[in-house]
Amino acid sequence: MKRTHSLAALVLAALGLTALVSAPLASQADDKAAPAADAKPAADAQKVDEKAVARARKTAQMLDDVYKNVIVLVTDKYVNDEDDFAAGAAAVLLFQTISDKGYHNVRLLDATGDPYDAENVAKDAFEKGAIEALKKGKAQVEVIEYKEGKPVLRVMTPVPVVLQKCTMCHPHYSDAKKGEPIGAISYQIPIE
Ligand code: HEC
Repeated sequence: MKRTHSLAALVLAALGLTALVSAPLASQADDKAAPAADAKPAADAQKVDEKAVARARKTAQMLDDVYKNVIVLVTDKYVNDEDDFAAGAAAVLLFQTISDKGYHNVRLLDATGDPYDAENVAKDAFEKGAIEALKKGKAQVEVIEYKEGKPVLRVMTPVPVVLQKCTMCHPHYSDAKKGEPIGAISYQIPIE
């Protein structure tokens, strides 16, 4: 019985996630958040190869799908009480390792103002602006920035309360309005 129940929850969550991540990644100018201090003016941004931007956007979309599905799968199958090792905590460790290796930069952020860990918050102008835009209902936010002279695509996607189980450790998630993101994932994908 329990198995059927958790499978149903997983399917529902997966459906929710699919709906969430299947929305096309924003590319229109009006979807871009205010550029952070180190973002170059539009003239420079135009020199970026559009095909390389499209590749980076696709990579972000794939990673978002993989990471979110893993977090939901682990929570559903392995996390049964508050003392179990949280998928969110595993994601923070995994994201740190992947970022340190230099493939891409990725962070799991709080969007409620009440994070488990004070490190997991929006830190710069792009992340802060993007959290506000996501809370207002944007499917995702992106901008091109330069890191050490190299272009990167910064993307933020929302994390909704996908399972009832999430409120076991984050009780304040039950205050979130329907569909309102309680978190976000912040990506920096090299444009190359
Ligand atoms: C077993 C307890 C537990 C469950 C269940 C849980 N989390 Fe977490 N969550 C944590 C812990 C602990 C952290 C802090 C991780 C760290 O920084 O090491 C965290 C961090 C987060 C963060 C980053 C912001 C913050 O608060 O630090 C988000 C977003 C998040 N969880 C979302 C979720 C979602 C969505 C679910 C349901 C799929 C969920 N969590 C289920 C314990 C839990």
